[in-house]
Amino acid sequence: MSRIPIPIQLVLLTVALTGVYTMVGQSVPQKEVHPPEVIDIASNISTDDMVEIGKDIFEGKGICTTCHTIGRSGALRFPDLDGIATRAATRIPGYSAVDYLAESLYEPDIYVVEGFNPGMPQINKPPIGLNDDEIMCVIAYLETLGGMATVTMDTPLVYTGSSSSGSEPARGEAP
Ligand code: HEC
Repeated sequence: MSRIPIPIQLVLLTVALTGVYTMVGQSVPQKEVHPPEVIDIASNISTDDMVEIGKDIFEGKGICTTCHTIGRSGALRFPDLDGIATRAATRIPGYSAVDYLAESLYEPDIYVVEGFNPGMPQINKPPIGLNDDEIMCVIAYLETLGGMATVTMDTPLVYTGSSSSGSEPARGEAP
C-alpha cells in the first residue's frame, strides 16, 4: 500500500467500508410496519366461540384493559366491568342489555356512567377501529360478565345496518 498516495488510500478505505456496511445492512431483516391485524371471523360461529374471540379482543387489540378492570373496587377512574351485563339491562329504560352494550361501544358519549367522565373511545373508529364482527364478539363476551351470552353473528344492532327493519331501539339521550 505504501506506493499508493494517501488520498487514494483513503478513498479505497471509504469504498471498502461502505461496501461492508451495505452488506451488513442488507443481511439484517428490515423493520416491517404491519397494518392492524384483521381477525377473520366466520359468519356462522357459535356464541361460545364469539365469547372466546371477544375476550381475546377485549384483552388484546381492543385495548379495553388499559382502562377497564374486571372485579376491582375502590376509587377507579374507569367503570369496573364485573357484572356489567346485569347493569346494562337497567341503565336506560327501554334498552335491552345488548342495546345498551352496543351503544356504550359505538356511541359511548350518549350515556355517561354516573360518577365518571366521558372518555370512552368509539371503538369502531381509529385508533381502536374494531369492525362490526369484532364488536359483536366483544358484546358476547361482555354479556358473560354477570349474565349469559345471547348474541349471534346475525343479531341486528342499530349500528351495523344489518337490522332487518322496524324494531330498532330508540337512541334516546341519557336520562
Ligand atoms: C381510554 C379509556 C377507555 C378504553 C380504552 C375503553 N373504555 Fe370503556 N369506558 C371508559 C370510560 C371513561 C367510561 C365511562 C364513561 C361513559 O359511560 O362513557 C367507559 C364505559 C364503558 C362501558 C359502560 C359501563 C357501564 O357501567 O355502564 C362499557 C360497557 C365499556 N366502557 C366497555 C369497553 C370496552 C369493551 C372497551 C374495549 C373495546 C373499552 N370500554 C375501552 C373508558 C375506556
